[in-house]
Amino acid sequence: MTRMTAFTFLAFFANVLLVPATVLSFIQDATQNVLSDAKVDVDIKVPVTLGVMSRCPDALLCENSMDAVLKKVGNKIDLKLVYIAKINSSEPDFGATCMHGPEECAGNVQQLCAAKYSPFANWWEFVQCNNYEGRNKIGLPDTARKCAHTAQIDLETSGVGECAGLDASGKGAEGVRLLHKSVALGKTMGLEKSCTIYINGEKVCVHDETWKECENGHTVSDFTRQINEAYDKLNA
Ligand SMILES: *[C@@H]1O[C@H](CO)[C@@H](O)[C@H](O)[C@H]1NC(C)=O
Repeated sequence: MTRMTAFTFLAFFANVLLVPATVLSFIQDATQNVLSDAKVDVDIKVPVTLGVMSRCPDALLCENSMDAVLKKVGNKIDLKLVYIAKINSSEPDFGATCMHGPEECAGNVQQLCAAKYSPFANWWEFVQCNNYEGRNKIGLPDTARKCAHTAQIDLETSGVGECAGLDASGKGAEGVRLLHKSVALGKTMGLEKSCTIYINGEKVCVHDETWKECENGHTVSDFTRQINEAYDKLNA
């Protein structure tokens, strides 16, 4: 091969390589634009988790406080409840011991099923309705039925009833599995006290008869401020 043909040969291949490179960079630019456009509408919500037991007075207090927070920054939050109980294979109905009795286990299951099978607003209204009924009625089938109605959850068609048990007992197999999963999740989080508040994965406050370990405050506006700060960081 002469020097000239070698050059032509290389130039030809350089060209072949160059064209796809240009196409590739065009595709990359286009993808980049789509991604940065998506960022405008799809924001990252702040995970907010409450460690609770459905019949615990501290949980009711935290949930009430969170209801006020939701009214201020509800669109920035991804709210979840995680339940505290002890896994116990000697318990016939729930395979777990709940501090405030088996009715509390039932309440936990009903709330978990409502969370899984209904939209956020309906689930939260169900929880609020439970609390409004009074903690000694949480977990009872009548309360579950009444609150499902209030929260516009159709127990039969939504999947909530099948999950929690069609008799609204909270003993449904899927619901009991959800309870065990929730308890396990709490364990990995180091969750001990109802109620414990986590914002963006960080334990920020506990209510155990009184507010404890709330370094950055425990009022609705303190939680709101912390959520706004976390939201701005996540979406910077
Ligand atoms: C486990 O459940 C059994 C049956 O209800 C109960 O007697 C026992 O106290 C429970 N154990 C714990 C550690 O809660």
